[in-house]
Amino acid sequence: MSKLLVLKSSTTGPTSVSNLLVEDIVTRHLDLDPATVVTERNLALDPLPHLTAMNVDGVRAHAVTDLEVETRDASDRLIAELFDADTLVIGAPMHNFSVPTTLRAWFDHVLRPQVTFGYSSAGPQGLVTGKRAILALARGGPYAEGQLDHQETYLRELLAFIGITDVEVIRAGRTAMGPEAREASTAAARADIAGLIGQRLAA
Ligand SMILES: Cc1cc2nc3c(=O)[nH]c(=O)nc-3n(C[C@H](O)[C@H](O)[C@H](O)COP(=O)(O)O)c2cc1C
Repeated sequence: MSKLLVLKSSTTGPTSVSNLLVEDIVTRHLDLDPATVVTERNLALDPLPHLTAMNVDGVRAHAVTDLEVETRDASDRLIAELFDADTLVIGAPMHNFSVPTTLRAWFDHVLRPQVTFGYSSAGPQGLVTGKRAILALARGGPYAEGQLDHQETYLRELLAFIGITDVEVIRAGRTAMGPEAREASTAAARADIAGLIGQRLAA
């Protein structure tokens, strides 16, 4: 039985490409293993507060005020969900060359010193080990390697920092370049998912 933690961050609701790809990933897991447990957070519909001067000590220092305690408790819950899962599925549109700020807020709550990462004499060490991640990425423009990409590269860096290095990426580009381009890249990404989940579960 696998446990999926699913994060969605699209702002476009029913027409979202990344949400569609995430749902495909989840459905294929369930088809192949109906006992799969799915925990979902839609960060665009139910956003986490951003870290500010008023609440940051809840995740990065000692919580004193009510708001800091509330923030620490939220961070504890999110981290517990992450540790409980074996596979993290992240749906992310590209927003201004990076990820939506709602997804960034999730990472801000989850990157906790001594909890999800630490430092050793060898440098930073991720403490969230033994997990896989699947990224379902959508962007309006084409995918060209290394070009203005602070979406896939950033997500990979954040995940690696906490110890998740087994990362698969499903990409749909050109979603804003007309319906034909959008449909073609969505179909190709869905075919990639079919191949990926089959291989993963067979492994
Ligand atoms: C606020 C905002 C910023 C965006 N910035 C970019 C961008 O920098 N590069 C890009 O290729 N597409 C950009 N787009 C287009 C989205 O990445 C594209 O529409 C994508 O399909 C959105 O994902 P979704 O379909 O899952 O909502 C942006 C869209 C929005 C709403």
